[in-house]
Amino acid sequence: MFIPISQPSITQLEIDYVTDAVKSTWVSSLGKYIDRFEAEFADFCESRYAVSVSNGTVAIQLALTAHGIGEGDEVIMPNLSFIATANAVLHCNATPVFADIDEFNLCIDPKSIEALITPKTKAIMPVHLYGHPAQMDVILEIANKHGLWVIEDAAEAHGAKIHGKRVGSWGHCATFSFYGNKNLTTGEGGMITTDDEDFYNRCKYLRDHAMSKEKRYWHTAAGFNFRLTNIQAALGCAQLERIDDFMKKRQVIFDWYTKYLGKIDGVNLNNTESWAENAYWLICLENKKWNWDTREKFMIELKKRGVDSRPFFYPMSQMPYLKDVNNTPVTDRVYQQGINLPTYYDLKEEQVKFVCDVIIQLLNE
Ligand SMILES: Cc1ncc(COP(=O)(O)O)c(C=O)c1O
Repeated sequence: MFIPISQPSITQLEIDYVTDAVKSTWVSSLGKYIDRFEAEFADFCESRYAVSVSNGTVAIQLALTAHGIGEGDEVIMPNLSFIATANAVLHCNATPVFADIDEFNLCIDPKSIEALITPKTKAIMPVHLYGHPAQMDVILEIANKHGLWVIEDAAEAHGAKIHGKRVGSWGHCATFSFYGNKNLTTGEGGMITTDDEDFYNRCKYLRDHAMSKEKRYWHTAAGFNFRLTNIQAALGCAQLERIDDFMKKRQVIFDWYTKYLGKIDGVNLNNTESWAENAYWLICLENKKWNWDTREKFMIELKKRGVDSRPFFYPMSQMPYLKDVNNTPVTDRVYQQGINLPTYYDLKEEQVKFVCDVIIQLLNE
């Protein structure tokens, strides 16, 4: 038995929609599935508009560009995230500035934001990490006080809620990823959600080489080709029909892990704030006794015994091309003590029990 960390759930529905898209000959970025996916995803996020793009990284780059963020500007983000969050800012020639995380929910700690605001700061980009939403109400208060944009990086948290309201509907805009390991996939793909009509139109214009609406093949800025295909959107439409089921199953998987691992001294699974609904993108296991070396050895042993896992992200400020004078003690400790465990729709209880039995054995050796 080998249990992977993640795999998408593909049923006949996905196959039928994708086949229909291919047979229709609308294989590029025009077609009925694109419009439908955007409209239905906006609805799902309790947002007015959605713009589909080719992946979650360019979703961030496009959102930043459409907000006018570029050279000389600073964007505050948590130090613990997938590197795409920082790279997208660099691709706009702006500078990522790293805040610390909250030890309980692993997202940006609102208390660490204000000290980082300078005259160059243009935006705050909270990340809803591993499916847990950031504390958006408090972050928005800080942003409003200082006149900053808030861009939610919701790549890992489709469907999560804050005070009963979906991620993707809190910031001035939000970005999503539909990579194959995400809660909802289009293979590769991404989305921007927003309530702002002007911003929405700017994103659509920049996504398509900034072509003038009045004059075809007349371009009024250096835009991008960040389009999603109709085939990918067909896959997305099928997945979105199943999203309630996906979300329920992720809760069930978390409950199984809690049943088998919930009472081990020093070991902690995903925490969820009282104001949050967790989308459980990945099960997180933290062990206060680990450091980088012992955690690495643990993951190697897990793999030998048939269980895939992955380490928490490195602090982005440690990357050689980003080396930043950072002051994020919580991030710097927590990242070494956490791993992600197999989390995907088709997991069965006996497989989760197998994973947990192997973990318990290893912890006791
Ligand atoms: C937090 C975060 N932001 C951005 C991205 C980028 O998404 P993509 O891989 O679709 O470019 C990811 C994806 O994996 C992510 O986890």
